[in-house]
Amino acid sequence: MVRSPKTVVQDSIAERKLRDDDHRVLKTEEWQGRSVKPLLLHGFKFQVEGISSSRPNRTKSLRFGRFRRFGRFMNTPKSKRSWIDSPGSPRLMIVSDLDHTMVDHHDPENLSILRFNALWEAKYRHDSLLVFSTGRSPVLYKQLRKEKPMLTPDITIMSVGTEITYGNDMVPDEGWVEFLNQKWDKNIVSEETSKFSELTLQSETEQRQHKASFYVEKAKAQEVMKSLSERLVQRGLDVKIIYSGGMDLDILPQGAGKGQALAYLHKKLKEAGKLPKNTLACGDSGNDAELFTIPDVHGVMVKNAQEELLQWHAENAKNNPKIIHATERCAAGIIEAIGHFKLGPNISSRDVTDLSDAKLDHFDPAYEVVKFYLFFERWRRAEVKNAEVFLSNLKSVCSPSGVFVHPSGFEQSLHDCIDKLKDCCGDKKDKRYHIWVDQVFPLQVDSDTWIVKFKKWEQTGEEQQGCLTTVIVSSKGVKPTEGLTWAHVHQTWIDGTTQNTRNDWFF
Ligand code: GLC
Ligand code: MG
Repeated sequence: MVRSPKTVVQDSIAERKLRDDDHRVLKTEEWQGRSVKPLLLHGFKFQVEGISSSRPNRTKSLRFGRFRRFGRFMNTPKSKRSWIDSPGSPRLMIVSDLDHTMVDHHDPENLSILRFNALWEAKYRHDSLLVFSTGRSPVLYKQLRKEKPMLTPDITIMSVGTEITYGNDMVPDEGWVEFLNQKWDKNIVSEETSKFSELTLQSETEQRQHKASFYVEKAKAQEVMKSLSERLVQRGLDVKIIYSGGMDLDILPQGAGKGQALAYLHKKLKEAGKLPKNTLACGDSGNDAELFTIPDVHGVMVKNAQEELLQWHAENAKNNPKIIHATERCAAGIIEAIGHFKLGPNISSRDVTDLSDAKLDHFDPAYEVVKFYLFFERWRRAEVKNAEVFLSNLKSVCSPSGVFVHPSGFEQSLHDCIDKLKDCCGDKKDKRYHIWVDQVFPLQVDSDTWIVKFKKWEQTGEEQQGCLTTVIVSSKGVKPTEGLTWAHVHQTWIDGTTQNTRNDWFF
């Protein structure tokens, strides 16, 4: 990011050709619980020097990321795909529980998940798989996404491994549903459970096709589970009863559960020749235990793991070196496990105090994007020490001819935008303000140009707003240690966010 102003390139990219009408907005869609107006990217015309000159008016269908062939694995129509196929196996598959694992409900600043997000987007998103595996139903999962700074997973497993969906559109795996129908009759489960006065039914949203959920006191849990299980066997059902969080009791078909869902995904990935090189399972409570039983899986029980999980571990997996009990809470424990098992980079940009010193020996657009928005967050949180140097550094990475199209449609030169940043220095101090980027997919369009597409989110207190962002960066005339030059930034509101915020939304 830091570069002396004199090394600024007069960028010749035809960034201005990426006009508003090319960046049109399509119909509003539901996207992982947030309604989104997707950018028109298929059939999106862009012209970049070197491509447009040799192939005039070529309409290019942009595909971001490397997951090209997963479409077949997902067995879904092309238009329904939202994560893109790759020629090889994912480098790392993280399968993480949400409540008290990825998400720390005792941290109002959400620091550990934000650290994980920055690491994932900068270092893993382009070639790895993020899977969330939660006990929550789709309704409660979508609610959590609105409250917490969560990334968009490639695969979402919900309702304690009874529902598997793919991509941003959350396309259900019908094969899994069919499989779970075997030896399952929910009416019998309801009949038998109604005979237990110790069981209190959970809310309607948490009762699913293959999951019946109750609350039961800790002291009574073991006994209830034993006699309920006997009764259901007598009625010809093959079920699994799981106790979690010292209060939740779930009844599922025997073949269901978080572990079985992971085994099913592994099998599918293997058949498609895409078994991940490494898998890391992360959890904190009873329903996560079976994640750690899947062959070849590394596991982390976060520091704050529940008693029932620790007990399961002590009884069943004490000597397994592939499972650790982290010394850090929640997502920080996941990062710790990545380091412990040497699964890949484990330093989040959020842990680097002086980001201007964090230089690379190669061009890395995803890393640049993550770093740029971290700088900006620190600016607004009044965490930047030398404001003048900061602004001139920022200017030096922006092309003088570069343009920023604000989500409101207002257009301004990048340099003018940076001059305007003086107005917002420290304006979010003590306001629980954070920025994160999600699904950062760089696409190299010629030897020195990338188009990077991602979602940029800001949260102040409880309120979130986001926009789809497209950035053009260039390596023309600069060294890797100097970072890429930002030539164009174009944003579109993600629907459902407050849109009258032109004066509060800067980049
Ligand atoms: C989530 C679900 C709940 C389930 C619990 C444990 O909290 O909402 O239905 O019982 O996870 O699996
Ligand atoms: Mg949990």
